[in-house]
Amino acid sequence: MNLVVVGLQWGDEGKGKIIDYFARNADIIVRFQGGNNAGHTVVINSKKVIFHLIPSGILRKGKICAIGNGVVIDPKVLVEEIEVLKKEGIGVTSDNLKISFLSHIIMPYHRIIDSLREKRRIQKIGTTKRGIGPCYSDKIARCGIRVIDLIDPGKFSLKLRDNLREKNALFRKVYNFKGFSFKKIYQEYSYYGEVLKNFACDLVEFFYRMRKKRFLFEGAQGTFLDVDFGTYPFVTSSSTLWANSLVGSGASFLKIHKVLGVAKAYTTRVGEGPFPTEVKGKMENYFRKWGKEFGATTNRPRRCGWLDLVLLKRAVKLNNVTEIVITKLDVLDKVKEIKVCVGYRKGKRKLDAFPSDLEEISPIYAKVKGWQKSITSLRDYRLLPLSAKKYLEMIENYVKRKITFVSVGEAREAVIKKRQS
Ligand code: GDP
Ligand code: IMO
Ligand code: MG
Repeated sequence: MNLVVVGLQWGDEGKGKIIDYFARNADIIVRFQGGNNAGHTVVINSKKVIFHLIPSGILRKGKICAIGNGVVIDPKVLVEEIEVLKKEGIGVTSDNLKISFLSHIIMPYHRIIDSLREKRRIQKIGTTKRGIGPCYSDKIARCGIRVIDLIDPGKFSLKLRDNLREKNALFRKVYNFKGFSFKKIYQEYSYYGEVLKNFACDLVEFFYRMRKKRFLFEGAQGTFLDVDFGTYPFVTSSSTLWANSLVGSGASFLKIHKVLGVAKAYTTRVGEGPFPTEVKGKMENYFRKWGKEFGATTNRPRRCGWLDLVLLKRAVKLNNVTEIVITKLDVLDKVKEIKVCVGYRKGKRKLDAFPSDLEEISPIYAKVKGWQKSITSLRDYRLLPLSAKKYLEMIENYVKRKITFVSVGEAREAVIKKRQS
């Protein structure tokens, strides 16, 4: 059984927790896009671990984790992450971490230009400033530096020199920024090359040898941050959809059996861009407080709002979702009346097709009575309050997919397997 887990909203749906849960029944866990703009949280025995690059399956013994060609790697962050895991008693070796020769490397100039560009823009995106967009730009412009280039001193020197010729001129002339020293970067990154060498391999051949094993693909970001189908330009720079899991890993010979779409019981978004069900004031504070809605990567307060079923249905289509996982249902425990978006209006007109962009869209809400009791300790679907079950059924009926798991707390074990009817 090969599984893909993707986010159905604007990221931070709780994918890390769900990956950790499903990693029990997988052999190989693979990141296929994004970089350390991701922050995937796993909470075990009240201890929080946040992954930015290494797949969240690394906490399970005997699993192999892989970083595919579609991922952009900041080697500094990777080295730090390996150190943090070491301190937690989790050894990261060439046996349990494989990195594609073809993944692109985030360089210091990518991080800097991400910030400088953002500062200059009139219409800001609110990026994580991790250099993600500039690194993907260089990949497409064919001047990127890949893992295989970094670990070869001759190739690395040539490619770095070539890049700095262009970048230093651009930085000085356009951004009035001093530019970069070849020597400094070369020295620092040669060290990273030595570290990466231990993990780097031809993932295509490795995956092919392992093709009978169980693969779990770990999506990062979410459907509406997808560079094509998201709320462009307020998106990330990679394809976040399930279909990229094979291209971004090179495992195109695999059959995908299930796509698990993860959605929060409400909605959040970090950064700029349209968000039809966003709330301000009392409800915003409520979500932020009880949902601890602060970014796992940048610690920015997340924007919060009600669940948007129009978006969810679109995300189900875009990802060929076979099953839905609802997370953070417990965060709604104290809400008296829950709102759910079941349609869109533009001005006075009710829309009957999905809009080409979400600007100036207002939501049409249905209301569901809140259950107003704690559900965090529940593990049996039958024991959920009736109105919580009604809420979940309403989601299923609207998007026409079954919810198979419900997460009711941040702890690893706070998961309810929903009985299938
Ligand atoms: P990801 O990027 O999709 O992996 O999600 P993040 O880790 O950025 O954000 C999800 C946050 O919600 C983390 O702090 C999780 O510990 C937490 N979380 C996940 N599932 C639940 C849940 O069911 N209930 C509660 N209260 N918190 C949850
Ligand atoms: P996970 O995997 C939430 C958002 C940023 C910004 C936009 C572009 O934890 O769900 P970028 O740095 O990628 O160029 O920023 O995308 N963003 C995320 N929001 N969760 C994420 O990842 C995100 N990764 C990027 O806030 O709006
Ligand atoms: Mg996150």
